[in-house]
Amino acid sequence: LWTTANIIEDSIQRVREQVGQDEVILGLSGGVDSSVVAALLHRALGEQLTCVFVDTGLLRHQEGDQVMATFAQHMGVKVIRVNAAERFLTALAGETDPEKKRKIIGRLFVEIFDEEAQKLSKAKWLAQGTIYPDVIESAGSKTGKAHVIKSHHNVGGLPENMQLKLVEPLRELFKDEVRVMGVELGLPPAMVYRHPFPGPGLGVRILGEVKQEFAELLRLADHIFIQELYRHDLYDKTSQAFAVFLPVKSVGVMGDGRCYDYVIALRAVETIDFMTARWAHLPYEFLDLVSRRIINEIKGISRVVYDVSGKPPATIEWE
Ligand code: XMP
Repeated sequence: LWTTANIIEDSIQRVREQVGQDEVILGLSGGVDSSVVAALLHRALGEQLTCVFVDTGLLRHQEGDQVMATFAQHMGVKVIRVNAAERFLTALAGETDPEKKRKIIGRLFVEIFDEEAQKLSKAKWLAQGTIYPDVIESAGSKTGKAHVIKSHHNVGGLPENMQLKLVEPLRELFKDEVRVMGVELGLPPAMVYRHPFPGPGLGVRILGEVKQEFAELLRLADHIFIQELYRHDLYDKTSQAFAVFLPVKSVGVMGDGRCYDYVIALRAVETIDFMTARWAHLPYEFLDLVSRRIINEIKGISRVVYDVSGKPPATIEWE
């Protein structure tokens, strides 16, 4: 019988046969696929697995702590957290071009991951959360390596000199199967059913130059939006929802005085394949509540707008 429990058992056996007593490293992003691989490999290999979690400083509200709580504290997985926010901010300083920002983030991510991998000199295997659709996608690409560091699939891949063999236990599975597996392996459903988040993170949701101050404001606004979506039972009805930081100032009135602060755009879409999308027709009352909360609770934001653009012609992300 082909049940999830069977698929898990089968995967565990295969991984054990594949890697034997060797040590394995895994880049943990907090996304669904790498999280499920971490849970699966932890069950299969225990202490032989070491995860590297690069905190870029471009993650969502408390995301880094949540990843550590789930895997390190809760499940007892060995996780090395690299706090690299400063390095990312420094590398991004002065850059406003979206594609260049993506390249900087992707390159630095690989560089940092590689540094950590070098330190784990005993590791012989690199685990990846490649799933079946990634395999199909990269089959068409020239290098066939498009799936390498897949959360940053705009990046070429890992350095050639990193002589690690690949272990990809999700290669034959579709996303929904991976999700079911994750829940069965004991991951929190909220983590497994979380909306997708781009590899470059808030780096492409802060328009133009990325600054620490902007990232802080955006994190707070995004958190309020997501929290209210959950509270109003709307999170699972949207495919992807997030806040975008606009580095323009607009005039407002606060109490007795005028203010001149930044703008937050809210984006929520419904889609099956993310190739086309319709903007989510969220209730006006809901948008009103979110807007009020953001403006009242976050000093530095004086205006909230809602994105009513479909894809095409607009993309889901703003950069
Ligand atoms: P767009 O903006 O192209 O987004 O309509 C489609 C989906 O892809 C995600 N996305 C990315 N994911 N690296 C990623 O890993 C990226 O550079 C990137 N850009 C967009 C986006 O969040 C949406 O789910």
